[in-house]
Amino acid sequence: MKVLKTIDELQEVRKNINSTVGFVPTMGALHDGHISLIKKARCENEIVIVSIFVNPTQFLPGEDLDAYPRRDEADKKICEMCKVDYVFMPEISTMYGSEEILIKAPNKSYMLEGKSRPGHFDGVLQVVLKLFGLVQPTNAYFGKKDAQQLSLIEQMVKNLFLPINIVPCDIVREKDGLAMSSRNVYLDETQRKDALLISKSLYSAASLIAKGEFEVKKIKEKIHEVMKDLDVEYVAIVNKEFDEIETIELKNTVILVVARFGNTRLLDNIWL
Ligand code: PAJ
Repeated sequence: MKVLKTIDELQEVRKNINSTVGFVPTMGALHDGHISLIKKARCENEIVIVSIFVNPTQFLPGEDLDAYPRRDEADKKICEMCKVDYVFMPEISTMYGSEEILIKAPNKSYMLEGKSRPGHFDGVLQVVLKLFGLVQPTNAYFGKKDAQQLSLIEQMVKNLFLPINIVPCDIVREKDGLAMSSRNVYLDETQRKDALLISKSLYSAASLIAKGEFEVKKIKEKIHEVMKDLDVEYVAIVNKEFDEIETIELKNTVILVVARFGNTRLLDNIWL
């Protein structure tokens, strides 16, 4: 495995690859969720490239950019164990110049995550587009955990005619159901226990739907009931286009919840 720091190094490597390239963009502090993406990429491509870059443009002022967990050495070991070929770990000054052409996510992205974090997805799309330009992957792997991010990246690839196959990957959870996230380390013991109510609320919703309840209002009530002791930011039920719906469709429906634990926001969702 080789660690690449500069654009020149990455471009030199890319120039000499003539086979399939699987790409997994991350912000590091790798956990089993990231590892599942890397393993899938390893199975499906000749060459695997992982990027580790805590992207400042997707953090809003006052968010946890400085506190975001950084574990470069441990991350490199994980990548090595997963038989990654190249890890790209650039500096901020390598990725951004003083004046930039800006990417603007569609207006619709200013709902749900985009409403709580206005401008967040502009930053995500900007860095992902830059990384796509550098890595030129055949397949790029994204987790369904960040459902709205995944949907916008699929739209960007379609709108900008990028010849890249986006591979959605299932959410990896702790044994007790909590969706894995680099931000889980911020939780204290009580918060960690309370956080279980998030996945529990989604499972209750799924079992209600399995029993034949398709009215979104009723499903949302159930979710709120399970999470009544939490600081719930939003509960949304959307279709594949991320439009909110009133009646559950058994395919292509995503149920999303976000709850706050102090300054930590935890996202979770299930896909029907
Ligand atoms: P990061 O939060 O590090 O996540 C990297 C990738 O791992 C994303 O595609 C995310 O959806 C996926 N992921 C995280 N937790 C997961 C879990 N529990 N199960 C499955 N997949 C999971 O998302 C970002 O970084 C950034 O926004 C990025 C795309 C790298 C752009 O900066």
